[in-house]
This record gives sequence, C-alpha cells and structure tokens, in this order.
Amino acid sequence: MTTTIAVAGKGGTGKTTVCAMIIRYLTRQGFGPVLAIDADPSSNLNLVLGLPLNEQETVGHIREEMLAQVQADSSAGIMSGGLVSGLTKPDYFDYHIRSIMVEGDNVDLVAMGRPEGPGCYCPANNAMRLVLDRLSNQYQFVVMDNEAGLEHLSRRTTRNVEHLLVVTDPGQRGIIAARRVVELVKELNIEVGQTYLVINRVAGGEVPALLQPFVASIGAPLLGIIPEDKTLLAFELSGQPLLELGDESPVYQAVAQMMRQVLE
Ligand SMILES: Nc1ncnc2c1ncn2[C@@H]1O[C@H](COP(=O)(O)OP(=O)(O)O)[C@@H](O)[C@H]1O
Ligand SMILES: [Mg+2]
Repeated sequence: MTTTIAVAGKGGTGKTTVCAMIIRYLTRQGFGPVLAIDADPSSNLNLVLGLPLNEQETVGHIREEMLAQVQADSSAGIMSGGLVSGLTKPDYFDYHIRSIMVEGDNVDLVAMGRPEGPGCYCPANNAMRLVLDRLSNQYQFVVMDNEAGLEHLSRRTTRNVEHLLVVTDPGQRGIIAARRVVELVKELNIEVGQTYLVINRVAGGEVPALLQPFVASIGAPLLGIIPEDKTLLAFELSGQPLLELGDESPVYQAVAQMMRQVLE
C-alpha cells in the first residue's frame, strides 16, 4: 500500500520546507526510499533535497515530446493508435520517466513541470496518471509539493491523495488562501482522504487569538503549528539542503509530530 501525502497552499508559506521535513521524517523512520513529486511548476523541491535537476527533464516535457510524435505520426498517415516507436502512450511514458527521475539517498524525485499547454491533452494526461500510479506503487510513501491552484491534482495527472496538508502563514490572507484550497478540493472532487491545516512561522508558540476564528472557519482541522526559525535563513543563504537540518530543529520537530499524528 502506498500512502500519498500532498502539501499545498499560497506561495511562500513554506510548502517546500514542509515537504523536505516530511521526507526527512519518513526516511529517518526507515520508510525510504520515498518518491518525491514536485508538482509546482517553479520546481525547487530538488534544492531542499540536495538533488540536481535538469529543468528540461520533467513529466511535462515527456508529454510534449510524445504529443509531437503523435502529430508527426498522424500527418505521416500512421493511424495505429500507438507511436512510430511501436510503444503505447503509457509504455512511452514508462520508458522515459525513468530517465528523468533523479535518484538520491533514500529519496527519488520526479518533477511534473508545467501542467498543460494549449490543445487537448486528455489522453496524454491519462497516460501520465497511469504511469505515475504505477511508479508510485513501488514506494511506501509519495510526497507531493503542489502549487496553490492544485493544477496537477485537478487535472488528475497525479494520483489520489490520502493526506493533504494545507500550509499557511499566520496571517488572514494566508488563511483565506488556505480556505480557498480546501474549497477547491471539494469543488473539483479531488479525491483526498483527509485535509489538514498547518500554520507555519508562528512566533510565541500559539495561534494568535485574532486568527483563531479564521482557523475555525476553514473546514479542515488544525494539524499543528510550526515555529518561526531563523536557522532556516542560514540554510537559504548557503544553499545547504534543508534535509540536513538537525533532529533538534524546532521546524523538524513540529513536522515530525504532525507526521506521527497523521500516520497513527
Ligand atoms: N518555520 C520557518 N521559519 C523560518 N523561515 C521559514 C519557515 N518556513 C519557511 N521559511 C522560509 O520561507 C521561505 C519560503 O519557504 P518555501 O518552503 O520555499 O515556501 P513555498 O514552497 O510555499 O513557496 C523560505 O525562504 C524558507 O526558508
Ligand atoms: Mg515551493
């Protein structure tokens, strides 16, 4: 059984940081290798994981190349339903996805790239989904870093999600954006087992009283808060991967506690 944990929320709230901490927790618990899916088109999950990434090597690029081939085939009068290579679309993805996967120590990374360009991509999306599902099934845990619009989830190019963590900063705008994400999941019928709210960068150890009514109105339980931690700035400045944060890091501790709760 594969468990997929997705992280979403407004830009800059700490989604990628939370993903890194989740992956750190899972690998420390011996659940690795973990499959990390970077579903934010401004992909940078690789940086916090300390992995290289070729920006031209995303699932989106494979799809573009496949569609170009389909077009070339049909203008050449080949109407086999497959590709010139003799491969079906899922087989084509399967073959190429291995080449874009970045393998790290206990974590493998796949970047989705841009959700979609012009044109009808439904069959291509189905193929993508099928292949990502097949790939994910080989892992105990999949961790997905999403952008605010949940494009990949809404287009069903990625698999269903067991746990969705919506991250916000401790401000009204962040929380309103988080509520929007929670609503979006319902509107788009995205299959999510459980949605939680996570408030990041909280000073003083508790949710400010002024924010509490907003938190209560979200429609998703508060999983936990993560303290503001100045240590992260040093990591950002030096480019040191966040995976290397120590066990004593309050940010790591907070996320580890959340994971224990989620996976209970
Ligand atoms: N708890 C925290 N304490 C201090 N800085 C943080 C914390 N969480 C995130 N940051 C910083 O905030 C910035 C945005 O975080 P990031 O995880 O990239 O957000 P997102 O992926 O949502 O855009 C980064 O510079 C990160 O180091
Ligand atoms: Mg990010």
